[in-house]
Amino acid sequence: MKVRLDILRCESIGSKPFWQSIDYETEDENSTVAAALTDINNSGSYIDTEERAVSHISWECSCLQKKCGACAMLINSYPRLACDSKLKEVRRNGVIRIEPLKKFPVVRDLVVDRSIMMENLKTMKLWFQEYARADETVGDIAYEGSRCLQCGCCLEVCPNFYSGGQFFGTATIVPASRLISAVPESQRKEVFREYRKHGYEGCGKSLACRSVCPAGIDIEDLLVNSNAAAVWKRRKRKLKNGKKD
Ligand code: SF4
Ligand code: SF4
Ligand code: FES
Repeated sequence: MKVRLDILRCESIGSKPFWQSIDYETEDENSTVAAALTDINNSGSYIDTEERAVSHISWECSCLQKKCGACAMLINSYPRLACDSKLKEVRRNGVIRIEPLKKFPVVRDLVVDRSIMMENLKTMKLWFQEYARADETVGDIAYEGSRCLQCGCCLEVCPNFYSGGQFFGTATIVPASRLISAVPESQRKEVFREYRKHGYEGCGKSLACRSVCPAGIDIEDLLVNSNAAAVWKRRKRKLKNGKKD
């Protein structure tokens, strides 16, 4: 299989980005964007379509199994995990455009600085400050919330999120649902207030985030549950695919 990879390169923070086109060929019909980038870097001898040498392409990965979220990037303008993007499925007319996520500052090539997500989690104080008893009736909510990869794909398509803004987006709302589902009485007021300020109030409920989440998290139901508890002060319920109260 042959594809042309158009990669948006950037040598360092603040330097001018440029496109580089590479003709890539593999015998593996199930090869992924991650595998192609690895091949090109390992080869060290690729030249681009203008006959320039291809320097090492910086990108992030860890698990290569859709578990860590590190390899998120824009692939033909869609936020995806490179390790979960088969060339044959994402190519358009034989071309795959690969760019860094745009909602975060570029560090180099496809590597972006996603530390704002951790800063936002810290602002929300998403940890228990005292002993908390696991509530078995909301275990499925906590589990669903724990599946977030912190990849940032949801923030990429969210019309209301920007780095440094008051609205933190799904990458924070989803982990927050874990705490909201079991928050002890002493923390309830503060946690619910932060959720309303950084989650509920800025969300337009379009659910664009749901369709791009590579983990397939049931974002809508987590939002409904967190809103019920923190905004409407209603009893929490179980996820749709579980048994509702
Ligand atoms: S529902 Fe819309 S506004 Fe809310 S987090 Fe998702 S994409 Fe953003
Ligand atoms: S909610 Fe989904 S898209 Fe957003 S950071 Fe978590 S895993 Fe990624
Ligand atoms: S490398 Fe971990 S999700 Fe792709």
